[in-house]
Amino acid sequence: MTSPSPTVLIVDDEKHTREGLRLSLEDDFDVYVAGSTAEALELLKEDSIDVMLTDLRLAGESGMDLIDQALKLPKPPICIMMTAYGSVDTAVDAMRRGAYDFVTKPLNLDEVEILIKRALKSRTLEKENAELKKQVERKYSVEGILGTSEAMKTVFEMVEQVAPTRATVLIGGESGTGKELVARAIHQLSGRPKTKLVTVHCAALAPNVLESELFGHEKGSFTGDMEKRIGRFELADGGTLFLDEIGDIDANIQVKLLRALGEQTIERVGGSKPIKVDVRVITATNKDLWKLVQEGKFREDLFYRLRVVQLQLPPLRERKSDIPLLAEAFLRELSLLNNKVYKPLSDEALQALLAYDWPGNIRELRTALEHGVVMCNNPRIGLKHLPLYLSNGAVGTNGKTIDSSLTVLSSGTDLSLEKMERQFIDAALQRTGDNRTEAAELLGLSRRTLQRKLKELNLVKRVRRPSKKDEFKLES
Ligand SMILES: Nc1ncnc2c1ncn2[C@@H]1O[C@H](COP(=O)(O)OP(=O)(O)OP(=O)(O)O)[C@@H](O)[C@H]1O
Ligand SMILES: [Mg+2]
Repeated sequence: MTSPSPTVLIVDDEKHTREGLRLSLEDDFDVYVAGSTAEALELLKEDSIDVMLTDLRLAGESGMDLIDQALKLPKPPICIMMTAYGSVDTAVDAMRRGAYDFVTKPLNLDEVEILIKRALKSRTLEKENAELKKQVERKYSVEGILGTSEAMKTVFEMVEQVAPTRATVLIGGESGTGKELVARAIHQLSGRPKTKLVTVHCAALAPNVLESELFGHEKGSFTGDMEKRIGRFELADGGTLFLDEIGDIDANIQVKLLRALGEQTIERVGGSKPIKVDVRVITATNKDLWKLVQEGKFREDLFYRLRVVQLQLPPLRERKSDIPLLAEAFLRELSLLNNKVYKPLSDEALQALLAYDWPGNIRELRTALEHGVVMCNNPRIGLKHLPLYLSNGAVGTNGKTIDSSLTVLSSGTDLSLEKMERQFIDAALQRTGDNRTEAAELLGLSRRTLQRKLKELNLVKRVRRPSKKDEFKLES
């Protein structure tokens, strides 16, 4: 099938010009003619016109005004101005206002034809570029989820595929891999954002509280709470309910959930009449739900209901190629949030980020970068501005990960680097019962560096007396 010919509209108040152009162009184009602004606008609104060729003077009207109006249409044509020799200035003005080009009268018909073809070609290229740009953008971000790695591209594809359906989605992945972010993205793209995403963190609530939180309760039915309460299922009616940490719900709630999913009805605690709800359920867990099923802790039938689609988020250490993109995005955002000027990472700092294994995944990366943003007074964020555990490259690369209780210490933002080092080392020594070898390992430092730091920071006195074993291989 050949594609339809491009459409060209000729606007001129002189009939012989219109007809002359029509004759010369109609072999290659689908040609329309108009003798006035009004006629032209009517045609422009009715048909999709690719190129409009208009005279500057139209029996008392201005071709310039017509171009202005045409360019404001939802699908504006490419505009070319025809002008008498001598009024080139006006034609240049037209181009400033958005016209593609101009031709001078008397017209050279071949020139007009070539110009129209060139204009069409450039519009096609523009469209292709815009489409390409969209594709590129889509590849590294869906609803604020960033990533260029193959693993993340697969996630994006699945998110886009599953979002508009009603399928329940089970999102798996270690802590901090973006499960909640993905749940939000699915909701945003679902075409169900009539209500906002309703979230319940299942692990945070005692079973009886969770039950009434999910399903609501009738007046007086729940100890200590005399008022009727609408549950999250009802609140999410018409929208999406996100149940986070689903692996932690007890057997009773598992049964109720199964029923809610199967029959699309719920009952309030202490109530007796079933209530219809139209809810799309998304769940997340950092546990191996299938293992819980095998251990008899999670109902198999519920597992299958929840896992119609399973989306497994890869840990950050398996997609380190995403780190530069994530780091830049976080640095820009965190600089704004902390009233700081954006500063890029030094090469050394980036290398350290790439070398580390990120047990806390993207959340941990974000926290580390916030540390950098806050501590940095140089033009670039260097390794020394990042949390101590990233230095010396030892932690993470050897598969060992620092205890998160040590990381917590770094979140105090008003600490000097020295104070922070002191706290880290102190914490590491306490944790290891003053065993320097183990503490050094935990901190990702060589034992020798730790010795030096202990001296520098005047921490030597709190170190226990070395054991025989330690004495035996005491440092030089
Ligand atoms: N791909 C990503 N692009 C940008 N930001 C991300 C991405 N993944 C996670 N984040 C950010 O990292 C942080 C942690 O993400 P989120 O809370 O979704 O993780 P989670 O998997 O739900 O963790 P947990 O299991 O601990 O609840 C959030 O600030 C989130 O915005
Ligand atoms: Mg979460």
